[in-house]
Amino acid sequence: MSAVRKLEPADSVLAVEGLTSGYDAAPVVRNVSFSIAAGEILVILGKNGMGKSTLLKTIMGFVRASSGKVRLAGADITNSAPHLIARRAVAYTPQEYAIFQDLTVEENLRLGVESDELLRQRLDDVEAAFPRIAQRLRQRAGTLSGGEQKMLLLSRGLIARPKIMLIDEISEGLQPTMVAKMAEVLQATKDKSGVAILLVEQNLPFALSVADRYAILKIGEIVERGDVAHADTAATLEEHLRI
Ligand SMILES: Nc1ncnc2c1ncn2[C@@H]1O[C@H](COP(=O)(O)OP(=O)(O)OP(=O)(O)O)[C@@H](O)[C@H]1O
Ligand SMILES: [Mg+2]
Repeated sequence: MSAVRKLEPADSVLAVEGLTSGYDAAPVVRNVSFSIAAGEILVILGKNGMGKSTLLKTIMGFVRASSGKVRLAGADITNSAPHLIARRAVAYTPQEYAIFQDLTVEENLRLGVESDELLRQRLDDVEAAFPRIAQRLRQRAGTLSGGEQKMLLLSRGLIARPKIMLIDEISEGLQPTMVAKMAEVLQATKDKSGVAILLVEQNLPFALSVADRYAILKIGEIVERGDVAHADTAATLEEHLRI
């Protein structure tokens, strides 16, 4: 595989090119480039405050890019409005618990699809991934446990049947069995639907169990990248994530 192909494969679903963004004076995301193909999982790893969430927010149009490009299946979506990006089959799962506490589980899921009918048709997807969520449709979302709220968040992304999912630290604060469940669901979704997934993570075992490729973000820049299957990966990555 040539270096050029790695930068932007012809079948790329998402391509980020020289992206720079931030909040005030100094950029937080600096000249970041990568691409993801259908059926591929790329994980962005980095310690606290390195710019991982800002990168996802820039792709989604919540934070303005000062330079660089974001392309979805070739179309330039740089600095488009978030709702327009979401309509292009991009599902964003933020780091914060972004569910509506006072709505029911079902009403939260309804926000992931365009009609009641689609929701009914796709409840089986939720049942297959997270039976615990499918069994609690009438329950107020705020009364779910922390782990269940994360499952609901991911379910709302899955039910949209996106082409690409942007998932920010889904494993954060979850017990190991729940982390393993998340990994199983992401793998199954990828295998079944060919969705492309951009994960942001600090949990190395989880990241390595699901991702095909990794990139390490350090103070807003990608300092290293490669294939997860490579033999030295775990040791190299651990070194980068050490405090
Ligand atoms: N809304 C904001 N306004 C100003 N600065 C911000 C804002 N959000 C984040 N930052 C700053 O941008 C930098 C990167 O933050 P970001 O949340 O992207 O990091 P992160 O890698 O996701 O960290 P974590 O692993 O803790 O979630 C930090 O220095 C942070 O203080
Ligand atoms: Mg973050």
